[in-house]
Amino acid sequence: MFGAFIISVLHEGLDGGVNYRSICAGCRNCPVETPRNAMRATLSRVTGLKYFGTATDNPELTDTAYVEILSNTTEFGQITPGNSQKWDATEPSNGTFTFTEGDVITSLAENNTQLLRCHNLVWYSQPPTWVSGGTWTNETLQAVMKTHITTEMTHYKGQCYAWDVVNEALNDSANFRTDVFYNAMGEDYIRIAFETAAAADPDVKLYYNDYNIEYSGAKATAALGIVTKLVNEGVKIDGVGMQGHYIVGSTPSQSDLITTMETYTALGLEVAYTELDIRMTLPGTDTLLAQQSTDYENVVSACLNVADCIGITVWDFDDKYSWIPDTFSGQGAACLFDEDLNRKPAYYGVVSALKSSNRTVSTLTSATLVSSTSVATSSAAGVPSILTTSSPSGMTTSYIALSTSSLNPAPISVSSSTVSSPFTAILTTSTSVSAPTASADSTDDGDDTCES
Ligand code: G3I
Repeated sequence: MFGAFIISVLHEGLDGGVNYRSICAGCRNCPVETPRNAMRATLSRVTGLKYFGTATDNPELTDTAYVEILSNTTEFGQITPGNSQKWDATEPSNGTFTFTEGDVITSLAENNTQLLRCHNLVWYSQPPTWVSGGTWTNETLQAVMKTHITTEMTHYKGQCYAWDVVNEALNDSANFRTDVFYNAMGEDYIRIAFETAAAADPDVKLYYNDYNIEYSGAKATAALGIVTKLVNEGVKIDGVGMQGHYIVGSTPSQSDLITTMETYTALGLEVAYTELDIRMTLPGTDTLLAQQSTDYENVVSACLNVADCIGITVWDFDDKYSWIPDTFSGQGAACLFDEDLNRKPAYYGVVSALKSSNRTVSTLTSATLVSSTSVATSSAAGVPSILTTSSPSGMTTSYIALSTSSLNPAPISVSSSTVSSPFTAILTTSTSVSAPTASADSTDDGDDTCES
């Protein structure tokens, strides 16, 4: 697959606690990486993202080779259930809730110490037939919607980093979709949904999520209108999810992506790529795969260049389980791994973008240590410390302490109560993220997954 593919990319990892790094520069055959030594999640921390994650779905969890990669937090620090939290899956008939399928995925994420994005609460597509085919007034559908949101969010309370509260309210002409919710409640259903969500779980991030709003145009303008209205009305909304379903060779320019993201972040919101994939017309050629790598690198770099772009989720990571071929006839190969779970050039495009970022690694010269948790490793480089520091304003922030070498930031041990000597730090958590505890990183492979 990589025969004609030439890319300069840095592979980094901790294998068995031994810090190693190899450079694949201009090579024809990049070194074979195993899930164990590819440091995706760590790379996403180096770049300052809260996570780099993937969607998954229940049927593919019987594929053990797939699950092994999915569960490897050195690849993915976050999971989104692709279908099993949707309305049709969770409330198939009025007032009858079933979270069995969703719980399989949320438990998997919890066991893996992966962050969870929860998806979604109100969506025009695939509502259960009792909702889409029902006869509703504003009041009756409002009551049903509130019950659905409240019941599902209560069930998953404390497990989600974020919820996609309203999904794809806009059609491709940038008007409100005239779905069952809009027809009964008008555009006010969006405000009601967010207010209901905020009441159900005040601690989770609430997102508006849509596609083709990542670049300038009528749909981005309309999405900005939705979120601006909520902000101006004092309704709790924390983020805009930009799905990012693209076509190879047609991804928006990085500057357009950045400018558009900044229209949302200027409102005080965070943004994230929530469903990234980049499809092509099959069969995939070396040329298309190389272009796809460039396209992935471009989109990931755009996020890295916006301070409040906090994470990236791919809409499943391998071509075998991608939704694309079922929806777009003759198209596919949209993911980072191929159908046999081999990494594609696109994977290395992402790695290249993550490695190029410089927004993340900060040098602390002085910080008051609140706590320090050693992460056991047999690394010859020393025992990395997870530092929790506090600022005068009361913010607490956690870092992995590293040596000052930005090229090869080896973990170091810091044990004094006041950090006074300079060290490079990887931001791992801030007060806004509820992270699993350090002891949860039972794999003890040095990846410190608990801090993602
Ligand atoms: O559950 C039934 C199963 O009982 C039946 O045997 C099977 C036969 O085809 O269908 C199953 O339902 C499918 C469902 O996925 C679960 O696998 C639906 O047909 C299929 O249409 C559905 O597609 C999902 C789609 O959303 C619609 O819900 C895709 O997997 C999922 O990737 C896609 O994800 C959406 C995001 O939620 C929102 N943004 C766009 C994105 C892609 O469309």
